[in-house]
Amino acid sequence: MLLLALESSCDETAAAVVRDGQHVLSNLIASQVDLHAVYGGVVPELASRRHLEVINPLVEEALSTAGVKQSDLEGVVVTRGPGLVGALLVGVSFAKAYAYALNIPLIGVHHIEGHIQAIQLEEKVEYPFLAVAVSGGHTHLFRVDGIGRYRLLGRTVDDAAGEAFDKVAKMLGLGYPGGPIIDKLASSGDDGGIVFPRPMLKKNNFNFSFSGVKTSVLNYLHRLEEPLDDAQISQISCAFQTAVVDVVTQKAIRAAESEGLSRIVVAGGVACNSGLRKRFAELSALSVLEVFFPSPLLCADNAAMLAVAGDYYLSKGLSSSLDLNAVSNWPLEQVCCK
Ligand code: KG4
Ligand code: ZN
Repeated sequence: MLLLALESSCDETAAAVVRDGQHVLSNLIASQVDLHAVYGGVVPELASRRHLEVINPLVEEALSTAGVKQSDLEGVVVTRGPGLVGALLVGVSFAKAYAYALNIPLIGVHHIEGHIQAIQLEEKVEYPFLAVAVSGGHTHLFRVDGIGRYRLLGRTVDDAAGEAFDKVAKMLGLGYPGGPIIDKLASSGDDGGIVFPRPMLKKNNFNFSFSGVKTSVLNYLHRLEEPLDDAQISQISCAFQTAVVDVVTQKAIRAAESEGLSRIVVAGGVACNSGLRKRFAELSALSVLEVFFPSPLLCADNAAMLAVAGDYYLSKGLSSSLDLNAVSNWPLEQVCCK
C-alpha cells in the first residue's frame, strides 16, 4: 500500500511517502525551530500558522521526491494526537481533505505509536518488547505486544525527560531546543564531580520524576557566581545528563526484567541523546538484553514513522471517518487495534 503520512503535532511539519509500511520513499521535515527559538519554547499559535503555510508545498515535495503522483496514493495517515491541538488540526484537516478528494482511506495514528514503531522501518524487532518513549512530552515505559497493543508500565509523574533537558538548557542560557545542545556540551564526559539526584530510583515502581533534578540544577546555579564560564556550563550539562540517563536506563532495564522482555526499543526525540545511546549499549553488552534505537532522523518528529501502524491498520480494514478530530490528550493504551 502506498501511503502519504503527515505529522504536525508540535513544531515540525512533516510529510512522507511510504510503501507497505516499510519502504520510505521520502521523509521530509520542515522545522520551525528558528521561529520559536527567540521565545525559548514553542508558541502554539505560531506553530499552527506555520504548519498551514508549509503543509501543501511540503506534501508536493514529498510526492516528487518519492517519484509518485497523487493518483498513486492508496491512503493517508496522520498524527491524530497527542500534541498541540491547533497544530494537530492543521495536519488532520489537510489529511481529511486529501483523502476525500482522492477518495482513498484515512487513518489517524497516535504520535507515540509512531515513535515506537519507527524502528520497524529500519530493522524488524520482534514483539513483545519494552518501549522507552522519551520525548518532549513523554517519558513512558510500555510493554508492546504488537501494533495497537500497549500496556503502560510506568511514566513520569511530572516533567518529561525532553522537557527537563529544554528547561535546564534555558537556565544555563543555552538555546532552544536544549536537548541537543546539552548533549553536545556533555560529550566531554567531565561532570566536575557534580552529582545531581536520581529521583525515584529506589522506588519499587517504574515511574519517573525529573522536576527534582531540574530544581537541583537551579539550586546549584544559585550558589554559583555569575557569569558561569564555558567549563562550568559543560560540567553542569554533563552532570544533569548523566543523572537523567542513569534513571532512564536503570528503570527501563528493571521494567524489562520484571516483564521477562529481552528487547528494548528506545524512541522519541530524546532517543537521539548520545549519552543515552552509549549507556544502553554498554548495559546491553553486559546482559542478554538487545537494545534498539532508530536512526536520529526517525527518533525526532517525522511522518514516515506513522506509516508502520497506518499501513497495518488500513490493511486490516480499519480506517478513520472524515469526522476525525485532533485530540490533545490520548493515552497510548487506548489506541483501538487489538
Ligand atoms: O519526539 P520529539 O521530536 O517531539 C516530541 O514529541 O516532543 O522530542 C523533542 C524533544 C525535545 O525536548 C528535545 O530537546 C529532545 O527531544 N531532544 C534531545 C536530543 N535531541 C532532541 N534531548 C536530549 N539529547 C538530544 N540529543
Ligand atoms: Zn515526538
